[in-house]
Amino acid sequence: MRIDIITCVPDLLTSPFSHSILKRAEDKGLAKVVVHNLREYGSGKHSNVDDYAFGGGAGMVLMIEPIDSCISKLKSERNYDEVIYLSPDGELLKQNISNELSLKNNIIMLCGHYKGVDERVREHLITKEISIGDYVLSGGELAAAVLADSIIRLIPGVLNDETSALTDSFQDDLVSPPVYTRPADYNGLKVPEVLTSGHEAKIQQWRFEQAVKRTKERRPDLLKNKEE
Ligand code: ADE
Repeated sequence: MRIDIITCVPDLLTSPFSHSILKRAEDKGLAKVVVHNLREYGSGKHSNVDDYAFGGGAGMVLMIEPIDSCISKLKSERNYDEVIYLSPDGELLKQNISNELSLKNNIIMLCGHYKGVDERVREHLITKEISIGDYVLSGGELAAAVLADSIIRLIPGVLNDETSALTDSFQDDLVSPPVYTRPADYNGLKVPEVLTSGHEAKIQQWRFEQAVKRTKERRPDLLKNKEE
């Protein structure tokens, strides 16, 4: 999979993809993230990419022309499955969206900044709008990093233990059960006995019961999804 991220603050996106699982995905050739500096597509002496809003009001708006130039260039090189705009008023990111996107080959992500982007970009160039939560970030970069991370870790072969993405919280509308590691007894704080029993079926049953209990306590809304 290839993800192209268009931003006017590319430095914000250098670190997230240079470490750990995302770096391993790149090293293994399973995912490639390419960050594009929108300013390289800007016009005039200062490579302008934004301008005042028609009708007045505070805040700058990203212009359609540099965005169109960048997206058109990318599209002339390969076909894209989605052009995603990260925005607080987009569709709320849930695990099922990441699951679907992890099956795609090529995705463009556009990060907004300032007051947002010219509405014609959203109407004509974007195929999907995604929000990572009901709060406003200074720009779409951190949201794009979150979205890309949630997608890339699902690509087969990216995680060492292929089953581990399937047992993540939310994959079956349940949060994850508690986990423990050595020592089994830390100053009298003991690990539940079943986990050290070696009895695989009992362990699976315990994990499922704990996941249901936790979900009831912490995210009862997820169980409602199941009933619908
Ligand atoms: N840009 C600013 N806030 C955002 C959010 N919550 N989700 C996605 N993109 C954003």
